Amino acid sequence: MEEKKIIFSGIKPSGNLTLGSYLGALKNWVDLSDEYNCYYCIVDMHAITVRQDAAQLRRRTLEQLAQYIACGLDPAKNTIFIQSHVPAHAELSWVLSCYTMFGELSRMTQFKDKSAKNADNINAGLFTYPVLMAADILLYQADLVPVGEDQKQHVEITRDIAHRFNSVYGEVFTMPEPFIPKVGARIMSLSDPDSKMSKSEQGGMGCICLMDSPEDIMRRFKRAVTDSDSCVRYDPENKKGVSNLMAIYSAASGKNFAEIEAEFDGKGYGDFKTAVGESVVELLRPIREKAEDLLKNKDYLVQIYRDGAETAAKAAARTLRKVYKKVGFVER
Ligand code: TYM
Repeated sequence: MEEKKIIFSGIKPSGNLTLGSYLGALKNWVDLSDEYNCYYCIVDMHAITVRQDAAQLRRRTLEQLAQYIACGLDPAKNTIFIQSHVPAHAELSWVLSCYTMFGELSRMTQFKDKSAKNADNINAGLFTYPVLMAADILLYQADLVPVGEDQKQHVEITRDIAHRFNSVYGEVFTMPEPFIPKVGARIMSLSDPDSKMSKSEQGGMGCICLMDSPEDIMRRFKRAVTDSDSCVRYDPENKKGVSNLMAIYSAASGKNFAEIEAEFDGKGYGDFKTAVGESVVELLRPIREKAEDLLKNKDYLVQIYRDGAETAAKAAARTLRKVYKKVGFVER
């Protein structure tokens, strides 16, 4: 039997999971999980590049694990684990940082955005963040990395680092490809369709979290920013708000843009926003309920992340051993 190809992906527990992270990443993780050998990580080490409250970070990490499972990731088939539990991530990250150029890290748009937003804390971790991400991916020899559009540049730099290393030492790393969905790759804020829906915006009117109540979800969709021409038409250049709602509705309901345009032909935005809100409520209801249930059974969650770390550590150790040997470290 041919061996399954490998997937690695991760989400930072720096806030509650949003509809953006679900449609851009998690949903595809679930869809791809039968076909691939998958490593799905909670990347807590990436989260501390921005100051976190320790108790909250711990709580969110466990909640995120529950939400991964509630979204449909079967822990029996996927390796689900916490990044800081597998020290090889930090170890490979150091080696790779010696094969990553200052100039290429300076060009990362996420670094530029984040340093503008956290001007009082532009730490070295924020700058070398993509190197740790490259280590995550390359440790598992991943073929595919399902992410939203905003992470594409980070997968590209991972490829550049892998290529640089491989050209010195031979084929050590598999060259990973990004997997970016056609619909949902960039979900925008409901209150500001010019900016990405993001964890840092949560609690505000623009952001939907997986654990939000149906009432909160409906209220935010009803107040979503649209435009003044009252026509449901996909035009991401000129009708950003409406097009974003259409993308959400399409991803939540499976309908394509032509079907959505036909459905709301001659109807106002009120009906449209209500329909989008209801589709999201129904999409998230079973996830929220399952996650709430799972969080009552902490022992089960602990078992999952311990098992996950054990499996991940074995795979990671194989790559790290090879890398250490190639660069000339004496074997332990
Ligand atoms: P993070 O935690 O910011 O986001 C997690 C995933 O969700 C996607 N995403 C979105 N997709 C569409 N619309 C949005 N509004 C939206 N917001 C978030 C992101 O593209 C991402 O796929 N650096 C990564 C985490 C990471 C990682 C990795 C990912 C660390 N190591 C290795 C893949 C492989 C990040 O900050 O994602």
